[in-house]
Amino acid sequence: MVITVGSTKGGVGKSTIACNLAVESSLAGIKTLLVDADIQGSSLSFRGTRETDDIQAMAITTPTLHKDLKEFERVYGLILIDAGGRESAVFRSAIVACDVLLIPVLPSQYDLWAANDTIKLLQEARAYKDIPAYFVINQVTNTKIAREAIEAMQGFSGDGKTLKSALFTRTAYKSSIVLGKGVSEYEARGKAAQEIRALYREITGRR
Ligand SMILES: Nc1ncnc2c1ncn2[C@@H]1O[C@H](COP(=O)(O)OP(=O)(O)OP(=O)(O)O)[C@@H](O)[C@H]1O
Ligand SMILES: [Mg+2]
Repeated sequence: MVITVGSTKGGVGKSTIACNLAVESSLAGIKTLLVDADIQGSSLSFRGTRETDDIQAMAITTPTLHKDLKEFERVYGLILIDAGGRESAVFRSAIVACDVLLIPVLPSQYDLWAANDTIKLLQEARAYKDIPAYFVINQVTNTKIAREAIEAMQGFSGDGKTLKSALFTRTAYKSSIVLGKGVSEYEARGKAAQEIRALYREITGRR
């Protein structure tokens, strides 16, 4: 299974979510590959910082990504692609490469509008392949604005479904990444760990 965590918008949590889902997958005993399709290289840095060698990582930042990955699909139980929107040809390839597209969205009106750019690229890719897409709301806060944005997201239909699992703004997401750990390794009983586990289960359908 290949999951692309992608958005044309910067700073929405693509790398945080891709790295944490990779950790969940590995903890579940699945052979896991993390592919960094963003020249910024955040997921590669995460792997570089990680002490355990359970998760393999590599960079593919060319528009042949969907072809190059074919061989790896036979070897890995789960491949996570961290896809930035800096290069639309690469991003399109990362979408075509996946079985499921996960689009992180921040709960604000600007971010909801910005999600339309990602949707346009998804629609182009859907000309080649049926790709289910899901929105995950990230950096939720207990504010009226966030609640309204979440309501708007849940009413959003057609191109993608908003997942029930959402991630709140929590320091564990930042503190764990710098140690090369997922939130469930950093604080197994913490709320961030619960959120990531729920997201992993919902997006993969795996227990
Ligand atoms: N739920 C969260 N709670 C707290 N901080 C978060 C959360 N999600 C992401 N962050 C922080 O927000 C910043 C952006 O997250 P991240 O780098 O994962 O986004 P990105 O979409 O990969 O960004 P870029 O477009 O730069 O690649 C990081 O500093 C990260 O630690
Ligand atoms: Mg990133």
